[in-house]
Amino acid sequence: MATPLRSFLVGAARLAVPRSSHSSIASRPILRPRTSLVQTAHRWAQPAFANAARSFHSSPAALHGGKGRPKPGEGVTLHFKRANGEVTTVEANVGDDIVDVSWEYDLDIEAACEKSVACSTCHVILEEDVYDKLEEPDDDENDMLDLAFGLTDTSRLGCQVKVTKDMDGTTITLPSATRNLRVDGSKPTPH
Ligand code: FES
Repeated sequence: MATPLRSFLVGAARLAVPRSSHSSIASRPILRPRTSLVQTAHRWAQPAFANAARSFHSSPAALHGGKGRPKPGEGVTLHFKRANGEVTTVEANVGDDIVDVSWEYDLDIEAACEKSVACSTCHVILEEDVYDKLEEPDDDENDMLDLAFGLTDTSRLGCQVKVTKDMDGTTITLPSATRNLRVDGSKPTPH
């Protein structure tokens, strides 16, 4: 007699196998329903999202901000230059990224996707010698940089640039405009 569990397993197996291959249930091994259903759903979802999907980077929430401000005189000095020529000088920790520094000092970097490499609102322009010492941007970063206003040869996404000792005294230029994916123009707050 068919038990509810067996009925479920058979039903799941039928769902997971294309109609054309439905011959005899008895001639096929019973598939594990959880795996089969997930795989089937994933396969069905692929065409609809194939072009729209982007991989989002993630990191533990505890790592989303920087280490705060270093003790005066112990950090890496960075000059942030706005499009209007104003310069703000700050001290940053080695290892923090430029968005961390921006959040710490409330600089004009939107970072709308909160470092998910899904926007270009953390676009910064580096000095050539600093740019040359960094690792090449990866494909995700390059894709987003292509969307940035005022792209230059030394443009990077600030969330992908970690502060190093070599940067001491460098000037980081903020572009005059960015494309904000938040329709209300709001900036995220660090967490
Ligand atoms: S914050 Fe969106 S890509 Fe850097």
